[in-house]
Amino acid sequence: MKIAITGKGGVGKTTLSSTLSCIFSQTYKVFAIDADPDMNLASSLGIHEPITPISKMRNLIKDRTGAEPGSSFGEVFKMNPKINDLPDSLSIKYNDNLKILVMGTVDKGGEGCVCPASVLLKALMRHMILKKDEIVVLDMEAGIEHLGRRTSESVDLMIVVVEPSLKSVETAKRIKTLATDIGVKNITAVINKASDRLEESFTQSKLNEEGINVIGCIPRDKTVIIADMEGKPLINYPESAALKSIENIAENILNFKQ
Ligand SMILES: Nc1ncnc2c1ncn2[C@@H]1O[C@H](COP(=O)(O)OP(=O)(O)OP(=O)(O)O)[C@@H](O)[C@H]1O
Ligand SMILES: [Mg+2]
Repeated sequence: MKIAITGKGGVGKTTLSSTLSCIFSQTYKVFAIDADPDMNLASSLGIHEPITPISKMRNLIKDRTGAEPGSSFGEVFKMNPKINDLPDSLSIKYNDNLKILVMGTVDKGGEGCVCPASVLLKALMRHMILKKDEIVVLDMEAGIEHLGRRTSESVDLMIVVVEPSLKSVETAKRIKTLATDIGVKNITAVINKASDRLEESFTQSKLNEEGINVIGCIPRDKTVIIADMEGKPLINYPESAALKSIENIAENILNFKQ
């Protein structure tokens, strides 16, 4: 199953991505991919050493595409670079079942930017999403721009994280429209940071009005903030109400009927 986690800035995408990855890795092989240029998936898993994103691996990019990153317009490079070995060689091993890949970003070259780094990243993403037997969790960039780049077009499930606010519901609506346009078949929402039933049911009804189903709710939970401040993954706090909700969501995802 390939899952992309999307939503407005700060709604809890990375918290959900990292925690789901930990939970799935108790049973399955998992690749957690940081596809957000403002990378912090590894940090949410408790890894605080600096990581070089793939987009900054100049030698690798040159070796695989035949051109220097940032090479001048018109330079010839391979559009189909060899990447099969990269998920294993470039990932950080978190535990026996969980590997992390940090993609990074390429300097924006306008729509449909074609440069050696973006060609390599796109080929790698495509490869990861088509890989059999593994669960892939993509922590996406905030907002809607990435949908234009079609990074997540072949995922099995796109989860939009929504907090109790109309703005966050509006972003979810836009994500749904754009994701449907690029061919994503299954889109569902997770409500995060609800302080009480009222906030939860308000958000749920707004999402339902937009035709977006909700696959689970995560309460506002101080433990999430404590985990963040202590630099540890949420899975280390078994009493956390948010963790328990994410465990339920993981189960719902695995039972999801496409
Ligand atoms: N259920 C929750 N209860 C309390 N705080 C939460 C909860 N979920 C997330 N947070 C806090 O909200 C902040 C944003 O969370 P997170 O980084 O996961 O969001 P994000 O959507 O990935 O943000 P960005 O758009 O910057 O990538 C963090 O400080 C996190 O600790
Ligand atoms: Mg994030």
